[in-house]
Amino acid sequence: MRAVGYTLQTAVADLIDNSISADATGVDIFFGIEPVPYVALVDDGEGMSPEGAISAMRLAGTSPMRIRNPNDLGRFGLGLKTASLSQCRDLVLVSKRDGVLCGFEWNIDHMIERQTWSLLVLTEEELQALPRFNELAARTSGTLVIWRNLDRLAATVGDLEASFDAAMMDVKSHLALVFHRFLSGEHGKSFRISLNRSPVQGADPFLASTKATQLGTF
Ligand SMILES: Nc1ncnc2c1ncn2[C@@H]1O[C@H](COP(=O)(O)OP(=O)(O)O)[C@@H](O)[C@H]1O
Ligand SMILES: [Mg+2]
Repeated sequence: MRAVGYTLQTAVADLIDNSISADATGVDIFFGIEPVPYVALVDDGEGMSPEGAISAMRLAGTSPMRIRNPNDLGRFGLGLKTASLSQCRDLVLVSKRDGVLCGFEWNIDHMIERQTWSLLVLTEEELQALPRFNELAARTSGTLVIWRNLDRLAATVGDLEASFDAAMMDVKSHLALVFHRFLSGEHGKSFRISLNRSPVQGADPFLASTKATQLGTF
């Protein structure tokens, strides 16, 4: 399951799909190496109730047969888990909805130790100790996804301390391209993405806003 073919770029993009489906106005992505290397994504979407978050952590927890909203970019109920676990051994999902906060964790090493699919339920104290928890706490609703123990990333880029920045700059370029229509507000409302507080500017491959471009009709 960890080897279904994601790259760091496509894995991050899959999480952003979920934020767009949750009606978020934007996603703030953070990465760092303190206290341990992590990638964190916070959105201001509708968030999930504790039951919703448990179901979100379940593999194929959302049926492909379910009628979805037209803006829902999901399909198989897998992306959050497969994208995340393709990059890390420790996935934390924290969500806030109707003022209720909840947090759950799939930790592969814990599961190996227990020899079972044992989902960790985080206490309020544990939530507060999470990287970037304050970003979510400050919002009325939203979702924070954290990846830690980035073994796959470390295996592809080598020493994280030296290569994390460059790997995340590649992510930024990828997001600028694949989400350019969302970033420019083409879908009726604009969508923001930032990376360590630096805004991602959309990169339109068709150069539509360039003077020399003539827009054709087909
Ligand atoms: N950022 C988010 N905000 C709100 N709900 C989310 C978020 N991420 C995931 N979910 C919920 O978890 C479910 C499972 O997500 P995922 O595993 O990516 O599968 P899919 O997107 O195909 O449904 C989603 O259908 C959605 O209900
Ligand atoms: Mg999804």
